[in-house]
Amino acid sequence: MGSLLVPPTAISLLAALSLFLLLLSPAAAWRPWPHLAKSNVSDDPALVRDSKKYEGSSEFVHLKYHMGPVLTANITVHIIWYGTWQRDQKKIIREFINSISAHDSKSPSVFGWWRTVQLYTDQTGANISRTVRLGEEKNDRFYSHGKSLTRLSIQTVIKSAVTAKSRPLPINAKNGLYLLLTSDDVYVENFCGQVCGFHYFTFPSIVGYTLPYAWVGNSEKLCPGVCAYPFAVPSYIPGLKPMKSPNGDVGVDGMISVIAHEVAELASNPLVNAWYAGGDPIAPVEIADLCEGIYGTGGGGSYTGQLMDGRDGATYNMNGIRRRYLVQWVWNHVVNYCTGPNALDQ
Ligand SMILES: *[C@@H]1O[C@H](CO)[C@@H](O)[C@H](O)[C@H]1NC(C)=O
Ligand SMILES: *[C@@H]1O[C@H](CO)[C@@H](O)[C@H](O)[C@H]1NC(C)=O
Ligand SMILES: *[C@@H]1O[C@H](CO)[C@@H](O)[C@H](O)[C@H]1NC(C)=O
Repeated sequence: MGSLLVPPTAISLLAALSLFLLLLSPAAAWRPWPHLAKSNVSDDPALVRDSKKYEGSSEFVHLKYHMGPVLTANITVHIIWYGTWQRDQKKIIREFINSISAHDSKSPSVFGWWRTVQLYTDQTGANISRTVRLGEEKNDRFYSHGKSLTRLSIQTVIKSAVTAKSRPLPINAKNGLYLLLTSDDVYVENFCGQVCGFHYFTFPSIVGYTLPYAWVGNSEKLCPGVCAYPFAVPSYIPGLKPMKSPNGDVGVDGMISVIAHEVAELASNPLVNAWYAGGDPIAPVEIADLCEGIYGTGGGGSYTGQLMDGRDGATYNMNGIRRRYLVQWVWNHVVNYCTGPNALDQ
């Protein structure tokens, strides 16, 4: 409420469209750096004109509901801190999670951002819950499975956390989300090249339960230009300057949007059989994939869209509890374009 929804520009639709057609990434993976970054699309009038044909049309974005569950009960996010984490880094991330349901944050707010996610329903017509809470946390300080993880070993890390002898994470299969966050010295399969985070669910044969989970890595040392864009920029783009991050931590501020992306998709597609586009559940294009790289009005290509500058020079697009964050938008299936709380009135 308070912020008006505006149609996307041709560019943002084009970005969504190209992503949809390319289907480059593996299941539920994400990298924030837009695929069109190098193509200079915004300067090409032909492309812009062509893409106008698709504006407001659902011809090309067939986001569909596949009858599976979405998270309609109060959502609890359990965090596993893998590796070495500073207290301040944890605070930034915890406060982001707590901001999702903080209805009294200053507008545009993280709470307002979640309203787009709440537009998704299940078979019974129940909406995704408006309540997202921080649950229990578990530290895996000593890198129990080493400093290089595969997709499968991530499940064993989660298993260790839910079966630990002392203070195991609760098993919460109905409305729990498990967020595995790896510190900046941990490599995860496909990190940086193709993904900055992904989500899936655990296998009963490994973990004992089917639990929706996401992994997000701190890219500060490995590839900030890929996964913490625009707070760091890729070296292959000369003259592009990084923006100042709102909480003074490039790696963690970059993780926030990836965490948001994954939590939005976990809520709307927790078992990868609910809301996604594309015919192939191996490579679903989900509600945040469709808005990759779009953080404000006009966003698309290498352009983030209209953002806000704090007095301290930091760039952000929404307010949480006490802090500011930069978070990508998500697809709004009611109007068929990406929306966010900081959309400009046109
Ligand atoms: C993008 O366009 C600008 C001018 O419109 C040009 O100077 C620049 O070299 C182009 N960049 C690429 C990567 O094509
Ligand atoms: C629930 O979803 C429907 C359909 O998208 C939407 O019209 C309605 O506003 C949503 N309700 C809430 C509380 O978000
Ligand atoms: C869900 O959260 C709301 C607060 O947002 C609370 O009032 C309600 O009691 C919670 N429901 C359950 C079942 O925990």
